[in-house]
Amino acid sequence: MKAIVCEKFGMPDELLYVDVLSPKPNKYEVLISVKACSVNFPDTLIIQGKYQLRPEFPFSPGSDVAGIVEQIGESISHIKVGDQVVGFSPFGGFAEKAIIKASDCFPKPKGMSMVNASAFLLAYGTSYHALKDRAKLKKGETILILGASGGVGLTAVELSKLMGAKVIAAASTEEKLDLCKEYGADEVINYTTENLKNRVKELTNGKGVDVIYDPVGGQFTELAFRAIAWKGRHLIIGFANGEIPKIPVNLTLLKGASIVGVFWGAFAQMEPKKSLENIHQLLTWFSKGELKPHIDRIYSLKNTSKALEDMIQRKVKGKIVIDMEI
Ligand SMILES: NC(=O)c1ccc[n+]([C@@H]2O[C@H](COP(=O)([O-])OP(=O)(O)OC[C@H]3O[C@@H](n4cnc5c(N)ncnc54)[C@H](OP(=O)(O)O)[C@@H]3O)[C@@H](O)[C@H]2O)c1
Repeated sequence: MKAIVCEKFGMPDELLYVDVLSPKPNKYEVLISVKACSVNFPDTLIIQGKYQLRPEFPFSPGSDVAGIVEQIGESISHIKVGDQVVGFSPFGGFAEKAIIKASDCFPKPKGMSMVNASAFLLAYGTSYHALKDRAKLKKGETILILGASGGVGLTAVELSKLMGAKVIAAASTEEKLDLCKEYGADEVINYTTENLKNRVKELTNGKGVDVIYDPVGGQFTELAFRAIAWKGRHLIIGFANGEIPKIPVNLTLLKGASIVGVFWGAFAQMEPKKSLENIHQLLTWFSKGELKPHIDRIYSLKNTSKALEDMIQRKVKGKIVIDMEI
């Protein structure tokens, strides 16, 4: 089978597009004929050795897959060969076949394309867990979303609106902010040209925001936290900016506010029943037309490096997908 292979840590242009042997599932795993695999920021980190997980070489990056079950381990009863599924694995997805733990594999809703399915689990799963389980976002509250047009950011905009919140979206260009408005943002801030803290205060009549969704990090984290409301919750999602921020902790005391960590992959492993309930809710919303993944661009497997470059260069809005059929 064809696969994108990482033989040493480095940049996307060092990845190889080669023939490798098809992997074999153990008794708790399924082998999927991958039809699409979306790109997520952690894919850009894992190939550089900058992610919390460092697989043994050689490995294929790619974690968010949709495809058809080709083989199942002997202990599996809830999935059968031929099922169309979505699944999540820390790596292995940028390949024609991938192994997924059966517990991380779910039936793909009818009517959901393979491309949309591959762009769904990680982004919506992370945002819904963050908003519902970690921030306990309530109807009528105000949320500030940083990197709001990105893969996870845009799903946070959509889900926050669905949960009845008022959304302030922050991003780096007018084009990105226009997309946030299309997805329901009530107010927008260009954080490269406007003062984030002052603008949030203006938009909330000095009160600040109840929740901050932060997949960006760097200098924006403290600026945002200084505009948090009494008893606010600042969700730490990631550090796309490349810099892990340090916040003076006295700010939490002054605002009675919390800094709340979010790690969807660990949540899915530690609390599988709750994670499953969340995924069912998200897939139900998708089936009712309430959620619409935004696919910015599609690449072939051979051009995966280009897709990863686009993400590193901050060019993507919503998701990029690797489509195995093109
Ligand atoms: N905690 C979890 O469970 C979890 C799950 C999934 C992802 N994540 C993390 O969430 C973050 C976002 O992931 P994603 O897949 O949504 O990525 P993405 O699509 O690339 O979005 C990241 C956004 O961050 C902003 N950004 C600011 N500085 C940047 C820089 N130097 N390089 C790239 N982007 C920059 C960009 O928006 P602007 O141009 O508008 O600033 C971009 O849209 C990553 O750190 C990822 O590891 C965490």
